[in-house]
Amino acid sequence: MSGDVRRLDEWDAPRLRGLADEFDTPLYVLDPDRVRKNCDRLLGAFPASDVHYAVKANTTRTVLETVREAGLGAECASAGEVRRALDAGFPASEVRYTAVNPPGRDLDAVVEWADEHPELTVTVDSRDTLERIADRGYEGRLCVRVNPGVGAGHHAKVTTGDAPQFGVPYDRAPGLCEAARDVGDLVGLHAHAGSGIMGEDLSAHEELVRRMSALAGEVGEDGSLEFVAVGGGFGVPYRPEEPPLDLDSVAETTREAFDCDARLAVEPGRYVVADAGVLLTRVTATTETPETTVVGADAGMTDLIRPALYGAYHHIDCLAPDAADREATTCLVAGPVCETADILGEGRSLPEPRRGDLLAVGNAGAYGYEMASQYNSRPRPAVVTVDGGTVARRETLADLTRLEPNYHT
Ligand code: LLP
Repeated sequence: MSGDVRRLDEWDAPRLRGLADEFDTPLYVLDPDRVRKNCDRLLGAFPASDVHYAVKANTTRTVLETVREAGLGAECASAGEVRRALDAGFPASEVRYTAVNPPGRDLDAVVEWADEHPELTVTVDSRDTLERIADRGYEGRLCVRVNPGVGAGHHAKVTTGDAPQFGVPYDRAPGLCEAARDVGDLVGLHAHAGSGIMGEDLSAHEELVRRMSALAGEVGEDGSLEFVAVGGGFGVPYRPEEPPLDLDSVAETTREAFDCDARLAVEPGRYVVADAGVLLTRVTATTETPETTVVGADAGMTDLIRPALYGAYHHIDCLAPDAADREATTCLVAGPVCETADILGEGRSLPEPRRGDLLAVGNAGAYGYEMASQYNSRPRPAVVTVDGGTVARRETLADLTRLEPNYHT
């Protein structure tokens, strides 16, 4: 299954070193060509289906335009994401807005845009959301988000399908569908099991698909449903020894369990961008301690929060040109934030680290830059393409305070 994943050691090390020299660190490097290839694989595995990119994984304009050109639609979780998708040129007919407890401001904006672009689809997750958009005069395309009662994912914090906060309970879905038909055109059903599904979670995904097609049979027997979205969540291997997800077999399992007239829709985020991005960071200090060698890095939880938040593993390589000549050392790679959670990797074997070494953190394209923050008043990093094009400039200290009218220097 070569090509199913791009491993960290397949990135061009001299080029990454050159980019770090030119743009400084911490630095995200994105490869649009890899994004394109991931999109192509998804379209190949799910022919005659809607493949919508869950834009929350990475909303940079470069990624959105690449994904649009590759032929995917956009799955959006907020008004801000809908705006970005429309601005990046996605036709409104390929944009879906799946709100989770949407603020009124988001509904105001989306209802206004839907007036201009009636092809937009709004997914409602509760009777209240439906009433709130009806109150704003919305009469357009609607989809109902269902809580399928089965979940899966790489961590409890991203297992969605059985978490009560997402969607209307399965047995109440027909009632919400009926109510939706009184407001606008009910064109779809939606459910999402969770994020980071690998082989062992496939049975939950399969059960979700089965339940959703049964529901579609019940509420869409008149053939009025255009699509049934069965979520995203396709996992990627974060560890070098982990095999890639067998996408074709996931697609086959999905198709076999999908027994209804509507079109199948999937909405992967991570799968599209994870291995198309790396985070580069420079070693600022090394400290021998009785337990381990502590490697201080200039990137931390404000740049990539996944290890701190989910205990997520991201592989780390040393890109020093002489790395191969050095002795392997067990290391703790820690960031610049004064929090015990600020760790990029623990118990990592790295070539004996030295101040100034460049480290590459793998699979950082999804939920990396997107979840970056300014905590500890750390400006967010820059993002560039492998060719050195700017995706997002590095924030400055002035950016940190620009929202505060009372800030004086
Ligand atoms: N559809 C819906 C409704 C979702 O809520 C999500 C992700 C997706 C699709 C895309 O899931 P993906 O294919 O990317 O797994 N920050 C976490 C992931 C949170 C995902 C939330 N929802 C992480 O870094 O692992």
